[in-house]
Amino acid sequence: MPFATKIEQTARNKRSNIVLALDFPFEKTENYRRLFLKADRTLETVSPHICAVKFNRHLILPLGLFDGVKKLVEKTHDMGLVAIMDCKVNDIGASNQTIAQYYYSAGFDAVIANPLVGWEEGLQPVFDVAQKLQRGVILLVYMSHKGSWEGYGQMVYDAKTEEKLSQYVSFAKKAIEWGADGVVVGATYPKKIREVHEILNKKIPIFSPGIGAQGGEIKSALNAGSSYLIVGRAITLSKNPEETTRNIKEQVNNYI
Ligand code: XMP
Repeated sequence: MPFATKIEQTARNKRSNIVLALDFPFEKTENYRRLFLKADRTLETVSPHICAVKFNRHLILPLGLFDGVKKLVEKTHDMGLVAIMDCKVNDIGASNQTIAQYYYSAGFDAVIANPLVGWEEGLQPVFDVAQKLQRGVILLVYMSHKGSWEGYGQMVYDAKTEEKLSQYVSFAKKAIEWGADGVVVGATYPKKIREVHEILNKKIPIFSPGIGAQGGEIKSALNAGSSYLIVGRAITLSKNPEETTRNIKEQVNNYI
């Protein structure tokens, strides 16, 4: 089943479009076991209220991909959820391919990649591997942080079409051309979400991080066209992650 269909069905079954960013602050080596248990417990308690889990290097670096995170990916699947790796693939094609193969072989349903590296000898090998394994590739289009405009908001010249356009508009167009399974546009930039939503014409879902800790708002992101909301620290650092996630889910479901 294609990734976009899989996450759509999961979101419908779970009545939630929330993607948990399973991130925790730095821990010393002697606390890695505790970190694993914290991640495991958080995943378990919030699982009724989410449709997917997004992992980042916050867990891969201390726990390892196959020794630690793979177990959490398996648990994610056991709970009927989808697993996304936020590795922002950003290298030459041969390296990108190997990186993606490792993440997919650890069980990830999709990886996030940076379209800045281009297609040929860039992301094409990642899309090829994804297609072979029936996994997804999600492209960065406009990031959620304050300095995003310096890269994603630049005016660029497309030598192929001889068009002058914003970098993020160019990336949204590439997402269609390359057959991406999703794009990331920060919840902190609802106007950009709307613009990208119009370009994508409902063909590709928008994932929006930045809710809560970075100041993004649920209503404005959904209203502008986001399909999935990525929430990290607002949940993982909360005193009661289950209650916080349930509240966010209720807010979303009352709105849509
Ligand atoms: P917080 O704690 O801010 O966590 O809710 C957000 C999570 O998402 C990641 N992040 C992004 N990932 N494109 C991405 O692919 C983005 O624009 C973006 N903004 C935030 C962040 O690293 C964390 O894991």
